[in-house]
Amino acid sequence: MAVDQRTRRSRLGNPTGGLSGPAIKPITLRLVWEACKAVKIPVLGLGGVETATDVLDYLLMGANAVQVGTASFTDPQASERLERDVREAFFDSNLFVINELIGKFSTEIG
Ligand SMILES: Cc1cc2nc3c(=O)[nH]c(=O)nc-3n(C[C@H](O)[C@H](O)[C@H](O)COP(=O)(O)O)c2cc1C
Repeated sequence: MAVDQRTRRSRLGNPTGGLSGPAIKPITLRLVWEACKAVKIPVLGLGGVETATDVLDYLLMGANAVQVGTASFTDPQASERLERDVREAFFDSNLFVINELIGKFSTEIG
């Protein structure tokens, strides 16, 4: 929610709205991690995906694919850009297959 003090009304029409984009990524990343541990079916990671690192973060948590929502509003070619950037990131990290990354998040210290 967001309120206008002058009118004492919501700045949103409903008067509530959904939150999306980078602000929600820390929460959605955690939820995707938990979902991946809880189910044996493919999981789609989403929430604030804007950069290749965001994609890799979700894959590391166990997501099999990601969705791009809000980033597409500012950059309609975001998905194509991310595909190129993720390929480059894989190349830079000497990763050859996506399974070398999916679900490889570790909670071990050090
Ligand atoms: C304008 C807008 C409309 C949306 N409509 C739906 C919808 O109809 N159904 C749904 O499940 N999620 C809907 N979402 C949520 C998105 O699918 C997604 O879960 C959320 O925006 C987080 O991803 P993002 O940060 O990449 O946008 C909508 C999001 C936005 C910004």
